[in-house]
Amino acid sequence: MNLNNRKEVAMKKGKLIVFEGIDGCGKSTILQEVKEALRSLGFPVVSTREPGGTNCPVAEEIRKILLYSPEPLYPETEMLLFAASRAQHTQKFILPKLQEGYIVLSDRYLWSSLAYQGVGRKLGIELVRIINTPAVKEVSPDIIFLFDVPASVAWKRTKKRIKKQKYDRFEKEGIRFQETLRGAYLELAHKNPKAVVVDATLPAGEVAKIVFKKILQLLPKTAEREYYQRR
Ligand code: TYD
Repeated sequence: MNLNNRKEVAMKKGKLIVFEGIDGCGKSTILQEVKEALRSLGFPVVSTREPGGTNCPVAEEIRKILLYSPEPLYPETEMLLFAASRAQHTQKFILPKLQEGYIVLSDRYLWSSLAYQGVGRKLGIELVRIINTPAVKEVSPDIIFLFDVPASVAWKRTKKRIKKQKYDRFEKEGIRFQETLRGAYLELAHKNPKAVVVDATLPAGEVAKIVFKKILQLLPKTAEREYYQRR
């Protein structure tokens, strides 16, 4: 679906909730827990991720290049590929789901490009924002959770996980790169009232609870919601 019309997009009914943070911050685990919890309350919820995206085969193909390219990618190539993946993902999946009234939980979105390409790859946040303008259309997240954790802690988590798989290009960059990204994310969060910084060093169960409660505040009031908030 191609939506060029501002008004149509402004009429979206669903909610877009974005999970952001450095590699190994634990956001993907929390996203799954929160998704199950929302679903069990009967909310219409779907999840997706970037680069790539649910039901987005083209964006998933771009993901393979981005994470496991056989040759080094120039920062500019990387920025444009992330934006291309996002353009496909936004129009094919996110916008239609929002219009159908779904709560869309996205593992990464625009802020990943601002932090990784804008600051990490030193292309500048403003350039990355401009390049991504056509990719995000008028989509603006209702909440952006930033899972904040020192790079050293995240690194240990990544190493544990990676034993089973192979490192992607960003994980290979190492701990200093991740610490730079952490600073970039915190600065973005500082300037955006939609951002919620969560201490991701806490046990996963506690982090999930904090996130879940925050999301419930956005949603229509129901008896179940009151019940769960009291717990
Ligand atoms: P992924 O395996 O999905 O990692 P994670 O579980 O940490 O999200 O890999 C995505 C990698 O791509 C991750 O290192 C962050 C990076 N990335 C960017 O550099 N820019 C972007 O715009 C996005 C969406 C991701």
